[in-house]
Amino acid sequence: MCGIFGIVTEREQMLGALLLEAGRRLAYRGYDSIGCATIDGSGQIDLRKDAGKIDEVDGRLHFKEMRGRRGIVQLRWATFGSPSQANAQPHLDSDGDLVGAHNGNIVNNVSLREEFLAQGMTVRGTNDGESCVHAVERYVNQGRDLVEAIRCAAGDLQGDYAFVVGSSNERGEDGHSPLHAIKKGSGLVVGLAEGATCVSSDLPSILPLTNRILRVFDGEMVTLWPDRVELRRVDTGERIERAPEVFTQGMDAAVKGGYRHFMLKEIHEEPQVAAELIHWLQASPHVTPFLEALTAARRLYFVGCGTSYHACLVGAAYFNQLAGIPAVPVLAPQFRETLARTLTADDAVVLVSQSGETKDVLNALNASRPTGARLLGVLNVLGSTLMHASDHYLPLACGYEISVPATKTYLNQVLLFLYLADRVRAHGDKVDWAKLPDLIATTLESTDEGAQYVASILNPLREMYYLGYGLTLGMALEGALKLKEITYAHCEGILSSEFKHGPLSSVYEGYPVLFVTAPNDAAMMVNHVNEVTCRGGRAIAIAAEDALLRQNVHDYLVLPSASQEVATLLSALPLQLISYYMSVARGIDPDFPRNLSKTLTVD
Ligand code: AGP
Repeated sequence: MCGIFGIVTEREQMLGALLLEAGRRLAYRGYDSIGCATIDGSGQIDLRKDAGKIDEVDGRLHFKEMRGRRGIVQLRWATFGSPSQANAQPHLDSDGDLVGAHNGNIVNNVSLREEFLAQGMTVRGTNDGESCVHAVERYVNQGRDLVEAIRCAAGDLQGDYAFVVGSSNERGEDGHSPLHAIKKGSGLVVGLAEGATCVSSDLPSILPLTNRILRVFDGEMVTLWPDRVELRRVDTGERIERAPEVFTQGMDAAVKGGYRHFMLKEIHEEPQVAAELIHWLQASPHVTPFLEALTAARRLYFVGCGTSYHACLVGAAYFNQLAGIPAVPVLAPQFRETLARTLTADDAVVLVSQSGETKDVLNALNASRPTGARLLGVLNVLGSTLMHASDHYLPLACGYEISVPATKTYLNQVLLFLYLADRVRAHGDKVDWAKLPDLIATTLESTDEGAQYVASILNPLREMYYLGYGLTLGMALEGALKLKEITYAHCEGILSSEFKHGPLSSVYEGYPVLFVTAPNDAAMMVNHVNEVTCRGGRAIAIAAEDALLRQNVHDYLVLPSASQEVATLLSALPLQLISYYMSVARGIDPDFPRNLSKTLTVD
């Protein structure tokens, strides 16, 4: 997830060190490139940027030598355009007197680039941050001042973003020059320090300079001068008066965005990352070749480990049920030992991994390669081994996931599979993609209290079962894994109709069994519920409202009403919240559970 920081100071100074320090404080968000721009008192712009880690790039470009009164630093996490010098941010406009950087996604980037090129502008890379700069340039060229030009450009930029920009030609009456920033969907906060003002994607890079913070909301822009800031509405240009707040919490709270743990922060990022992935999938030219390879395959396998494997289970169920395309989910090490041996060049293997570095997944890929089968990657970390080794890949566009338990990356894995299955679906109504992020946000809000309640029921116990059926099997398994991972309780996830074939013997009076149910399966699930309740077990349902199911269970965590496939996806949220609340109640740090590592590069 990219990060931007901009500062305007009273006096000319060596700004490079300050920008570098701000960049380091944005680094926890994840990045693959870094760039700094400074503008001195005479309007001279110094721009240095490249792909790589901060110290590595600083070693080559010597950011600390950069002087100026205004400065911008950007850390890039590649989505549009590969990590490279040209795509690293900040970017210049055609004649080099505007410099700017963004974070977020401009979803009409491809068509904007074509327009800019047709209009004779100098487009140096393929990154969407560059499109923000050229979008402003277009209106500056028409003679508008920079505030006006930014407001007009906002009308051309589709997607969610925060953007900071400065001009070498702009000067106020007092001889100082400003930076401008605009917010639409991505984070942006302003800091008011002594002799300087600054703006950033989030607080950690601002707090070492000041704790006087001005909130900026979507649809607003801010102009920063060394001694003041001006806030405006983007649509009308009308000025907004808002008092700054004093941030009294520490740096740890700032890094966690006010949440107690990264896991909770990352769960709450799910509506946003889902929106970003949907926009990306709808705009990206990478989707069609990926889908073509997938649908042309004679046999199709979805391969992963842990949480990513559970996404494969749900994804394969989507392909089978919605698209009528047979897909087989397989654990990566088992795939290497069995099915990889019988692959042919007509088959396709979708390899799913948040990190893109899981050794078991790479082993499966390497075992498949000699057969000539198509190798399709789904990954969050761009630049990972899986990305480079795949014939085609799709990103999860989640930004950095710090917490060891995968949450937002899992939701986006399932969402990505649903999107692909929906594109080629043979049955039922298409998903309303424009509404899905709001539905995810509503689910988070409406199930939070119920999740705390279910966590309180499960917390005294050392073992329990999560059952799913059809589409929700993968969800039940994932809910159970998440619970094991961060509460250290034993929780087994299985198919609800399998329960009677053995595990039913473990049920005693009050024994908890949680049923994850999609709407069309409620009647079948009631049978499985009754097998448990008639033996004294305590049945807990996670499902959209269903009268029959309600009559048959003890506790009901209600999901918003949605189609079979969307309800399945939504059930991930309360399952993650239950694990989180139970982990915290047990005094465990859910971000760093014992014995586990975020990236497993061993066999
Ligand atoms: C998820 O919460 C776990 N940390 C773990 O199961 C993980 O999903 C698994 O190790 C696979 O990782 P990957 O997605 O990076 O390949």
